[in-house]
Amino acid sequence: MTRKAAKPPLEQQVIWLIGASSGIGEALVHQLADRCLQLVISARNEDKLDQLSCKYQRISSIVADVTDLASMQQAARYIEDGFGRIDTVIINAGTCEYVDVQAFDSALFQRVLDTNLMGTVHSIEVALPLLRNSQRGYLVGVASSVTYLALPRAQAYGASKAGMRYLLESMRADLASEQIDVSVVSPGFVKTPLTDRNDFPMPMRISADEAAVAIVKGLQGRPWDIHFPKRFTRLMQWLAALPACARLAISRKTSTNSVKEASDER
Ligand SMILES: NC(=O)c1ccc[n+]([C@@H]2O[C@H](COP(=O)([O-])OP(=O)(O)OC[C@H]3O[C@@H](n4cnc5c(N)ncnc54)[C@H](OP(=O)(O)O)[C@@H]3O)[C@@H](O)[C@H]2O)c1
Repeated sequence: MTRKAAKPPLEQQVIWLIGASSGIGEALVHQLADRCLQLVISARNEDKLDQLSCKYQRISSIVADVTDLASMQQAARYIEDGFGRIDTVIINAGTCEYVDVQAFDSALFQRVLDTNLMGTVHSIEVALPLLRNSQRGYLVGVASSVTYLALPRAQAYGASKAGMRYLLESMRADLASEQIDVSVVSPGFVKTPLTDRNDFPMPMRISADEAAVAIVKGLQGRPWDIHFPKRFTRLMQWLAALPACARLAISRKTSTNSVKEASDER
């Protein structure tokens, strides 16, 4: 059996953070910029990337859209030319749209799956050759704790994140022999521009800074699932372990369609 190479400490790592221009990604920039060897940040919003990168020394930015393979290939070439390798890639880019089952719309699914799932696939395709140049590469994808339990109106978002989880778990199995570690990140509710649009209660919501601290702490140990806040994710995991009939009853209770059905019956 080959001995595992040591995990390089953060200060020796070239890190590519994909989806760095707002929310959790932006908070991660502030956590990582002064602690790693080189941080490369990407997203679509060039002004925001420039604002962030001029605050730190060992940071560079590149505009890249995860839905566009050519632009991701260009970003990877930029990293290869500058640094020759990636030690950690954090695929954080994501979007969320909720489904109205009364107006079921495949175009909405296409948008969400293109960014969250195909965006992850594109990111992996371009990052993998550079992770192989690291002494012990690390592939990290930000999915969601929504994957523990199917929630109402989250059909598109939940399917994209569940797909991401499966993809990453399967990558973890296949990449183990190449000494490339893989983690999924499963946040509960985090206050960001994405969740500021939500019109429902978000129990145990934490700040983007708290989320970034939890992620960076998780990155040191490289466990399979970096989930937080624990009081929320443990509850979701417990609910997920219930028999299907109990789980489905709980999901149904939180559906606005069930509320409508109950009021129609009255
Ligand atoms: N907030 C939560 O409660 C929560 C919970 C669980 C999981 N998550 C996940 O955490 C991640 C970050 O979410 P957030 O809440 O911080 O949202 P956010 O503030 O909206 O940030 C999303 C980030 O993704 C980037 N992005 C979106 N589409 C992109 C594209 N096509 N190409 C490249 N970058 C793209 C955005 O940059 P540009 O617009 O500049 O491209 C931005 O930097 C997402 O994957 C989300 O699903 C969030």
